Amino acid sequence: MVKKQGFTSLCVREIKENRTTQPHVLPIYATSSFSFSSIDEGMAIFKGDQQGHVYSRYGNPTIETVARKIALMESFDLDEDGECILFSSGMSAILTLMLSVLEPGHKILTQGNIYGGTTEQFDKILGKHGLSPVYTDLSDMAKLASLMAEDSAIRMVYLESPANPTLACLDLAALTEIAHKAGAYVCVDNTFCTPYLQRPLTHGVDFIVHSTTKYLNGHGNSTAGALVSIHTDLMKGPIWQAMKLAGTNCNPFDAWLLHNGMKTLPLRMDRHCANAMGLARFLESHPQISKVNYPGLESHPSHAIATQQMMDFGGMLSFEIKDGLEAGIAFMRKLKVASLAPTLGDIDTLVLHPASMSHINIDPEIRKENGISDGLIRLSVGIEDLGDLIDDLEQALS
Ligand SMILES: Cc1ncc(COP(=O)(O)O)c(C=O)c1O
Repeated sequence: MVKKQGFTSLCVREIKENRTTQPHVLPIYATSSFSFSSIDEGMAIFKGDQQGHVYSRYGNPTIETVARKIALMESFDLDEDGECILFSSGMSAILTLMLSVLEPGHKILTQGNIYGGTTEQFDKILGKHGLSPVYTDLSDMAKLASLMAEDSAIRMVYLESPANPTLACLDLAALTEIAHKAGAYVCVDNTFCTPYLQRPLTHGVDFIVHSTTKYLNGHGNSTAGALVSIHTDLMKGPIWQAMKLAGTNCNPFDAWLLHNGMKTLPLRMDRHCANAMGLARFLESHPQISKVNYPGLESHPSHAIATQQMMDFGGMLSFEIKDGLEAGIAFMRKLKVASLAPTLGDIDTLVLHPASMSHINIDPEIRKENGISDGLIRLSVGIEDLGDLIDDLEQALS
């Protein structure tokens, strides 16, 4: 009789039988490491002579499958496929990019009205380590060209289009041409649009970042980020190295939740866009509202450029309530359908009053300089029935 191993060994052992079936849906590889069938295989994989997984911080089949889908989505119009790496958050995607492709002394040219967390990262982390941000109005192409001609240390132009809170858009192709002439990379945060509505690689942009936490996941249950580029040498070399060594990698469960959400991206985005357009038109004609920022409205200053480079106008809008802070707070108190939450891109409608929420600790004068008036409300328009959303806003405004 063959001697059995002890009961505890049985409990500990990985049973590797029955692992040959083909799951229809992507499985979660909840494993921190991968074993080798022989020392020869292990040596070949470590040496790089053979493809294979080693350790989940370096790479994991669940994470890589989801990254591949995002790469294919962003390079949908191109003849060659880009590369994508997933990260633990949108913030870590941005940080890893900057730390891996820039050198101390290089500068990042950007605009004031991007996501506040990104600005803080540039000011408080990258700036402290020799990668200073330079702020300008990126819609002024002549100024952009002269700034870049004067300062060869500017090696990255970083932008959002549309940007918070005014939904102002920038001409991606024109801006990229100027940056490339000056020898700088361009990185676009495509979180608001997703590759369903805008594909910056088509306009020559070098890098795309996403907070996949938002529209790509769409259900508010996963925190992750993505970086996409056609510079496959940089992606597979220094950027992957930085992800691996800084440990800014995504985890398989969040990647899997993201994948679930991405399957319905076009259906969700069509509805987000249609509802946002409906609400923008409703708000535009409401007597309590002094201004509506939505690039789909003919009155929006970026309407022409948005029409040119976006497939539709997205689910984000902002508007200004007359009578400022008090009216803004009263409006927020009355809402019944929309939830008060500081995120965006979920299937349900989310509303933010920056003056009483995200920007409450910022001096009112500085808020104003950044386009955040006391009565400004930001809406991430969900996929509910439009009539219910209009009724909710109507009763809260009245
Ligand atoms: C446009 C934009 N980019 C990046 C981020 C950062 O993403 P994360 O929260 O996934 O780190 C956010 C977060 O709100 C965002 O709105």
